[in-house]
Amino acid sequence: LDNGVARTPPLGWNSWNTFGCNINEALIRQMTDAMVSSGMKDAGYQYVVVDDCWMNPNRDSAGNLQGDPTRFPSGMKALGDYIHARGLKFGIYQAPLDKTCAQYFNSYPGATGSQGREAQDARQFAAWGVDYLKYDWCSPSGSIDDQVRAFAKMRDGLAAAGRPIVLSINSNSIHSKTGPQRNWGDVSNMWRTTEDITNTWNSGQTNGYPMGIQNIVDVTVPLAARAKPGAFNDMDMMEVGRGGMTDTEMRSHFALWAILASPMIAGNDLRNMNAATQTILKNANLLGISQDPLALQASQVSFDGTRRVLAKRLANGDVAVALFNQGTATTTISTTAAAIGLSGGSFTLRDAWSNTTSTTSGAISASVPGHGTVVYRVSGATSTPTPTTTPPTPTPTPTT
Ligand code: GLA
Repeated sequence: LDNGVARTPPLGWNSWNTFGCNINEALIRQMTDAMVSSGMKDAGYQYVVVDDCWMNPNRDSAGNLQGDPTRFPSGMKALGDYIHARGLKFGIYQAPLDKTCAQYFNSYPGATGSQGREAQDARQFAAWGVDYLKYDWCSPSGSIDDQVRAFAKMRDGLAAAGRPIVLSINSNSIHSKTGPQRNWGDVSNMWRTTEDITNTWNSGQTNGYPMGIQNIVDVTVPLAARAKPGAFNDMDMMEVGRGGMTDTEMRSHFALWAILASPMIAGNDLRNMNAATQTILKNANLLGISQDPLALQASQVSFDGTRRVLAKRLANGDVAVALFNQGTATTTISTTAAAIGLSGGSFTLRDAWSNTTSTTSGAISASVPGHGTVVYRVSGATSTPTPTTTPPTPTPTPTT
């Protein structure tokens, strides 16, 4: 969607994976503070997204949405102000039909969806300072055309409200898994490709509920051509730091979300992250690949059912390559510079995890543990300056 936002995949945090409906303003403020104090903000994470269960089950007398008075007593505008004051952006959840998912499943009272009130709710979100709207279809009924019409109403409502707001949609909740069936870039900045993620490597689902990490990769890799600035395949909020997987699997998860240009929305408790989780979530090499201005999704170079090679072209001419082992045993995965679109006689490989470099005349290969992913940033000979004794030209200091 060409609305000026999400020119690269959004980076942030969302309340759902860890807290579900158990949210309140103190928690969201703590997470906002933790985003800053943990270094996540400095690493590039921006959006603090309040998922389902923030609403008052009743609209006000003018029909406006309101925050739940017990959970969010200061109101949603005050929460947005708190987030903005710390240099971050405010995200919120809503649904296009009559009910949110938590309301549909009867655990949360009310029926406060935006159906028939899209323009009014969009104005309300803009007035609260919302920067990101997660908009979640939660009904088994409705055709794809119904979904497109409903999402487009909110797209148009947000445009009319005049505030740049990332529109994040999910068409799959308890539905016929329509995410992969069309390119949703005309009605949204990001669209979920599958049903909900879980902190499992492989849930055995091809596109049902719940989805494991590898299952989401399987569904999303063939959709690479859809990604571009303002429009991304959303592989769902991350499960890094939530247990249920080995560190190798967590690293793979993060690396694959980065190279596949998915939004990277952390779903763990930012207030108490162990060292391994922090190292993964703040990996600057992978975040750099994620946020590359070309905003391409890696395309598949080869896959033999176990060994998958993915390559993403980057703005400076480098190519990021992932060597992903979907099997359980360690194996060697190989490709070549030519196969990932680079020509020349000498290349530098920067390993995204170790941050070490090596050189090659073309062979790109690694021994990869089961469920592991090795990522190299590959630079061609021309873009890798040789060391010289001449000091580099200093960058001129701007004068004001
Ligand atoms: C759906 C979405 C989840 C979450 C819940 C909230 O299941 O896919 O990401 O937003 O609704 O109820």
